Order: sequence, then C-alpha cells, then structure tokens
Amino acid sequence: MDVDAGGRRSRVVLGVSGGIAAYKACEVLRGLTESGCDVTVVPTAAALTFVGSATWSALSGKPVATDVWQDAHRVPHVRLGQEADVIVVAPATADLLARATHGIADDLLTNVLLTARCPVVLAPAMHTEMWEHPATRRNVALLRERGMIVLEPDSGRLTGADSGKGRLPQPAAIVAAVLDILRREPTDDLRGLRIAISAGGTREAWDPVRFVGNHSSGRQGVELARTALARGAIVTLVAAHMTVEPPAGVEVVRVSSAAELQQAMQDRAPTSDVVVMAAAVADFRPVPESTKVKKDDTGAGVTLDLERTADVLAGLVAARSGSAPFIVGFAAETATDAAELLALGRAKLMRKGCDLLVVNDVGADEVFGSPDNAVVILGADGSQAELPRQGKAGIADGIWDAVAARLRG
Ligand code: CTP
Repeated sequence: MDVDAGGRRSRVVLGVSGGIAAYKACEVLRGLTESGCDVTVVPTAAALTFVGSATWSALSGKPVATDVWQDAHRVPHVRLGQEADVIVVAPATADLLARATHGIADDLLTNVLLTARCPVVLAPAMHTEMWEHPATRRNVALLRERGMIVLEPDSGRLTGADSGKGRLPQPAAIVAAVLDILRREPTDDLRGLRIAISAGGTREAWDPVRFVGNHSSGRQGVELARTALARGAIVTLVAAHMTVEPPAGVEVVRVSSAAELQQAMQDRAPTSDVVVMAAAVADFRPVPESTKVKKDDTGAGVTLDLERTADVLAGLVAARSGSAPFIVGFAAETATDAAELLALGRAKLMRKGCDLLVVNDVGADEVFGSPDNAVVILGADGSQAELPRQGKAGIADGIWDAVAARLRG
C-alpha cells in the first residue's frame, strides 16, 4: 500500500481520548501501521485509564507521551503537530471536541491539535444524549467549518444497556478515511464549500407491502460525496435506497420516495454552494392503496395506474436566485450511437436548465451498480468534456474538476 509522503513513511498522530471505545483504537493503530504509516500515539490521561501506555508503545513501537512536560527538551507539543501528515483522534469524546473547538490546550493532545496544519480526522464516540446536545452539535459544526473531518458516529449498542447514535465508527472506516487523505493529491479546491448530493434510487409505494423502484446502487453519488469531502467540502448526502454504504464524514439524510427526496433537497439547496442530483428519481408513482392488493381466483392481472412525480432538478433550478447554488444534473440515456447520446444530453440540459449535465449511456453498459463508468459532461456554456471509462471515484473527481473550474471562473 502506497502511503509515502515524498519518499518517507507517512507520519500519523493517533490521538486517543478517554472513552470506553479507546480499546478499539488499538485496531485503528494496527490498520495504520500495517498500511505502512509511522504512527505516534498521543493518549489523554483519561484514555490511559482505559488502555495503558504499555499497549500503545508495544503496538506503535514508540514511546508514548501524554503531557507536555515529558521530553520537554524536544518540544513535543509543537513538533508532533507540525510534522504530522494527518492527525486522527479516535475516540474523540464530547469533552475533546469541546476543547478542540475552543482552542484549549491543557494536555499534549490538545496542544498537538492546536499546532497542526495538516488534515485532522475526528472519530467521535459518546452517548447519544451527548452527541445530540446543542453544545456538541455547535462544536461539530464549527470544527467542520474549519475544515476538520468529523466522522459521523455509528448507531447501535452503547456502553450500557442503552443503544443509539454515538458508537465509534468502525476502525476500518477510520483507517480508510486516513488513507484516503494520505493517497490523494494535495488539492483542497472545494475547501469550505457546502455541497448537497442526492444518490440512490427512490421507491414509490403501491400498497403497504409493494413499491415501484429502480436499479440505482448509489455508488456514483457516494463516490462524489467521498471525493468532495477529500477536497475539503462540507458534504450532505441525501441518500435514497442504496446498496453501498455512505462514506464516513458526511452528513447523511435518509429518504425513500421522490417526494421525500424533493423536500430534503429543497431544504438544503438555499444554503448550499453546489447541488448535485445523482439520484435516480422516479418519474411516475402509483396512486397508493391503503390496504394490500389481493389476487382473486380468476387468474386476472391488475393494472397499475401511475401518475407523474415532480421534476426535482428542474424545480431546484427554477427556485434558485441568481446563479447560486451551482447545479449539476445527471442524464441516464439509451442511445444507438455517440451522436444521438450527445443530442439527447443537450436537449435534456436545455430542458432542465442546470449548469452541468453528466451524461451516461445506460444502454450500452451496465452502469447501475457497476464499479466503473464513462460519461460526457455537458456545460450550459456549450462546453463538452469526455471522461473515459474508469472507476466511479475517478469520474467523481473529473466532475469536481469541472465544477471547481466553473466556480473559479
Ligand atoms: N430527476 C429529478 N426528478 C425526477 C426525475 C429525474 O430531479 N423526477 C433528475 C435526476 O436526478 C437527474 C436528471 O433529473 O439528475 C435527469 O434524470 P433522467 O432520468 O436522465 O431524466 P428524466 O428527467 O427522468 O427524463 P427522461 O426519463 O424523459 O429521459
């Protein structure tokens, strides 16, 4: 695995604050060292009551310091932060988030966070009440605004008998978030931009047990979210039904039907700099039955009456004031050749009125659920750029290149 930083091993500081999930940080440490990272562990004093320094130094192969007075002649509180390529704190308690937000530097870890100029990933773990408290919500929002990546905690069983949101994200997801940062080209051209992305396929209820849906996996939208986050954006993923997991570090809003997706996007568009409609939204929905549709003994079929849904993308374009937010649409087309694909794409771009339209040929290849794709990006300015077949992460980066160039221009 290549996580070199200019010919040397990437330097990662793993901060551990005092929560029961501290033991899971051992797995994060393992994952990072096995990926070739040079990891220095900086536990808080409270963290050492959960997992002792012998464990950290044995697993990292390095001495472990907690306070700024240890090895003071080497000025660790400044050096560690300055020299790190990435800092990751797992678990980050509510207290640690609060201290990081307010620039309090009363131990080695918070000093390191204050001197750091590299990307910082915070993996929170706490009880649901603490995560949902307005103080924590505000702290997380401020940290994200400053460019720190605050991962969303998982939901599930907490320390006691209770369960809810607040579990430490999976160690593998934390390691992946760090490695994503180390592998990427150092570009932060979307830094601070608020981006709302819809992804996945909507489901329209027919009766209490059945729905009309589509094949969308959500994969392209998830890659757009992951790459935007890596380029510095603050990302909201409005996730309809997906077969892939959303990336850690983005706000996820779950929706099911076209109407719910429309509401979620309408709510977010006015405060977004960029909106991307990557979701496969139903164009038609059944008029729902309140009770289960039964078959009879005659063997007769049923006729499903479908009514039109709203065009979410066109609605977002119509509702914006001036040129904000910048709006990107997708087009799923079945064309017999490249010329027809482009003609269909141009006509759709005109109809929808968005700034960029990413055109897929869904007939030629299996785009839905496939790990790769080839697209043409059409601009309202008449531009046209082809992205050759590649992974959906590469396609996502190509789309962000086009967006960033337009926003700069
Ligand atoms: N879209 C939308 N609301 C809908 C249907 C589609 O916002 N009810 C969005 C999609 O998210 C996509 C774009 O419109 O960004 C184009 O979707 P596509 O399925 O290609 O086109 P349609 O508008 O459905 O037109 P048609 O099916 O006639 O090609």
